[in-house]
Amino acid sequence: MAPELLSPQKLEEFQKRLNRSEHPRELVIDLLRAIQEKYGWVPDEGVVLTASLLGLSPLQVEEIATFYDKIFRQPVGRRVIHVCDSICCWSRGSEGIVRHLQDRLGIALGETTADGSFTLLPTCCLGACGQAPAMMIGFTLYGHLDAQKIDAILAAERTGGTP
Ligand code: FES
Repeated sequence: MAPELLSPQKLEEFQKRLNRSEHPRELVIDLLRAIQEKYGWVPDEGVVLTASLLGLSPLQVEEIATFYDKIFRQPVGRRVIHVCDSICCWSRGSEGIVRHLQDRLGIALGETTADGSFTLLPTCCLGACGQAPAMMIGFTLYGHLDAQKIDAILAAERTGGTP
């Protein structure tokens, strides 16, 4: 059984938003993200809780949760790296960027480092094509990547600083 997935305050906040909402489905992502912020990822209980709050079936919530790659349905590291593999980044060397990240972290795409610091995931366009190749860690976007820049970013992310 997962521990508390939402604080009483958050539950109340969502209940108020739900009362004002014509379409409960519009709150699915916000609810899943709130659970993820508190719990680190979204366990099955989080899908069931979201569904029951919004009057949806768990399957309806699961379909959205698994479509959206910023929702994690299994445990992840403390920082998740989304490295773009779409066309602009690919044409500007993202394959080499991915290889460098894998070498530095010692993991393959989809894996988490042994110390739990980083999870590395491929993602579609981050909307930063003008800065390709690009990646995102948490809510921070990093563009114009090269090997040296990645090393500085990883070192800074490890210590909570800025590269
Ligand atoms: S293709 Fe990578 S940010 Fe758009």
